[in-house]
Amino acid sequence: MNQSDKKNLEFIKNSGVNYFLQDSPRNWFDKQQKAPEDSANSINEDKLLEIRILIDEIKKYQSPLQKTAKKLVVYDGNLDAKVMFIGEAPGRDEDEQGIPFVGRAGQLLNKMLNAIKLTRNDVYITNVVNWRPPENRTPTDEEILAFLPFLQKQINIVSPDFLFLLGGVAAKAILSTPLTLAKLRGKLHEYESMQLNKKIHTIVSYHPAFLLRSPQYKRAAWEDLQILQQKLDNET
Ligand code: URA
Repeated sequence: MNQSDKKNLEFIKNSGVNYFLQDSPRNWFDKQQKAPEDSANSINEDKLLEIRILIDEIKKYQSPLQKTAKKLVVYDGNLDAKVMFIGEAPGRDEDEQGIPFVGRAGQLLNKMLNAIKLTRNDVYITNVVNWRPPENRTPTDEEILAFLPFLQKQINIVSPDFLFLLGGVAAKAILSTPLTLAKLRGKLHEYESMQLNKKIHTIVSYHPAFLLRSPQYKRAAWEDLQILQQKLDNET
């Protein structure tokens, strides 16, 4: 231990610290010295702050859906994720818990993620609409358009490399296309973020709630997941 470390240690001990999480005390006076986790954390903290500001904005927006819904549902997962999964709108379980995809469809989504060696912590999960529509009805075009700027802001904050659109509502919102899911799935599309100045690979597939009702489409959904997995594997 050099002289300055010793002085540093004395100072820290005198201020009441009795043990360290690492072998030697960190020199808090050296501005150059950074813990390995600092740089990653600072990105997360910036994004966390931005997402909290966005959540306040969504709360302030007086959506008629707010009158019948219980909890605002914005996101789950990782703000630094490479992949963003976008569903339709919260259902009953999500409305109770304030977290997207926690009901039966969410459990299937978890299995789909595991099938390509991902977990919820590896990805960012959100919906087009952030309040539950009454009786789980499909969001109207007006509702989709009203919430779209909030979704676009989430994309800009997270800055993913891939969007995985679950179902027709997410496809309509992001790709602004009238084409059916059968025409859109099975290939790569591009979503262009003006703010990020980048094109984001976009994959469209069936919504897990639809797959629960119509399991014969699971094979096609598996093919769509493999498009994502192959692209991710090629990136690393
Ligand atoms: N369906 C969705 O589209 N989103 C959820 O969060 C849950 C079910």
